[in-house]
Amino acid sequence: MAILPILKFPDPLLKERSVRVESVTPEISALIDDLLDTMRSSPGGVGISAPQVGILKRIVAIDVSASKRGGQQENHGLLVLINPDILARGGKQIVREGCMSIPDYTANIQRAQWVLVDALDRSGKQVILEAVGLEAVAIQHEADHLDGVLFLDRVTSVKTDVFRRKKYR
Ligand code: NI
Repeated sequence: MAILPILKFPDPLLKERSVRVESVTPEISALIDDLLDTMRSSPGGVGISAPQVGILKRIVAIDVSASKRGGQQENHGLLVLINPDILARGGKQIVREGCMSIPDYTANIQRAQWVLVDALDRSGKQVILEAVGLEAVAIQHEADHLDGVLFLDRVTSVKTDVFRRKKYR
């Protein structure tokens, strides 16, 4: 178990496409533990993807249950998704997003309101689940990382939709 360093924009690895995981080996399990430690080390962090720690494999972790917004909505608690595929999506929501790899900015991004996801869980078992609200946003955001897409790539207007993060001390 370890907190891993997070790659920061514009690290070129963040623009790479990650590869599918063939089987959940002990190395993959250890990586998942480290991803969870790393996600929890970031205050307000609701998701993380393996490429953000420089491992180009299709693994994400999401947990919106402790979030002020997400915790009040229907959610699955901690989700580890291996090879996630978004099978269907619908509706529309605009949510202010942040990312551990882009610590100085947030942005209003339009996402689907709900998604239907096919993935493997951390035991390698297939799961199909529906997510809504902030959990659906987090799944779309983390799945984007696996294709080398960052939230800044989805901004409609840099002028009106991107915000410098306020730092309180
Ligand atoms: Ni991110």
